[in-house]
Amino acid sequence: QRPTYQRTSSLTEQQWRQKKTQTPAEQMADSDLSEQIKKVTKDNHIRAENTHLMLIFQRGQITLPQYKLLLCSLHEIYQALEEELDRNSNHPGVAPIYFPTELARLEAIEKDLEHFYGQNWREKIVVPAATKRYCHRLRQIGKENPEFLVAHAYTRYLGDLSGGQVLGRIAQKSMGLKSSDGLAFYSFPGVSSPNLFKQLYRSRMNSVELTEEQRNGVLEEAIRAFEFNIQVFEDLEKMLSVTENKLQNGSTHSKTGNTSQLP
Ligand code: HEM
Repeated sequence: QRPTYQRTSSLTEQQWRQKKTQTPAEQMADSDLSEQIKKVTKDNHIRAENTHLMLIFQRGQITLPQYKLLLCSLHEIYQALEEELDRNSNHPGVAPIYFPTELARLEAIEKDLEHFYGQNWREKIVVPAATKRYCHRLRQIGKENPEFLVAHAYTRYLGDLSGGQVLGRIAQKSMGLKSSDGLAFYSFPGVSSPNLFKQLYRSRMNSVELTEEQRNGVLEEAIRAFEFNIQVFEDLEKMLSVTENKLQNGSTHSKTGNTSQLP
C-alpha cells in the first residue's frame, strides 16, 4: 500500500512526483545511516567483489583447499565480532542491531570446519596476518567504541544475506558437495526472507542515535571493514599462490594447483 502525500512547499514538482511513487523502503531519507553507509562503501564493495578470490568464487572455480582456508579466517572474524557484540549487547549503539538468534554465524562455521577438517579442526586452523589485524580491530572497538560495531556487523551480515546467498549455491557446485553438509555458513534458519530481514536491519540501524562525530566514525569504520575483508582475501590469495609455487617447483601435484599440504 503506497502512502499518500500532501505536497509540501519544500519539494520541487519533480521531487514531489518522485516521492509520491516511492515505496516505503524507497522513502528512506538520504540522511539515514543505512543509506549513507551503502553510499560511502559503494566503491569498496566493487573492489571486494573484484578481488581475485571473489572472482574465482563467482566463476565457480574455488577449490576445496582455498575454501577451507577462507573458512578458517571467517571463523576468527566471526568469533571476534560475535564476542564483542555479545559483550556489548546492552550498549545503545548495539542493542537495536543485536540479532544473535537470526544472524550468529560462529556455530555454523564450526560445524563446517568439523565437516572439512574432522573433529580436531581446532588444531588445524590457519590464521593469516591480515585476519589477525581485522580481529584485533574488532576487539579494540568492542572495548573502546562499541558504537562502531554496527559498521562491522553491517558489512558482514548484510553481505552474507545478499551476495553470500548466491555464493553458497556456487560453492556447493564448485566443490562437488553432494548435500548441504559443509555449507551451514550460508544458511540462516532464523531468517525466512533475507530481503525483509535486511529492511528490518536497516530500520534498526537508522534508529541508533549517534552524534555527528560518532556517525562519521561509523561511516569511516564501514570503509575500514570492507578494506579489512579485501586484505584478508588478498592475504589468502598470496598464501595459496606461495603454496602452489612450491608445489610446482618440487612436486608431482603441480598441474592440479593442489594445495593439499595445507591442513
Ligand atoms: C549487498 C553481491 C561480496 C558486503 C550485495 C548485493 C549483491 C551483492 C547483489 C545486493 C545489492 C542490493 O541489494 O542493492 C556480492 C557479490 C560478492 C559480494 C557477488 C562477491 C562475490 C561482498 C563482500 C562484502 C559484501 C566481500 C563485505 C565483506 C555487502 C553488503 C551489502 C551487500 C554489506 C548490503 C548493501 C546494502 O544494502 O546496504 N552484495 N557481494 N559483499 N554486500 Fe555484497
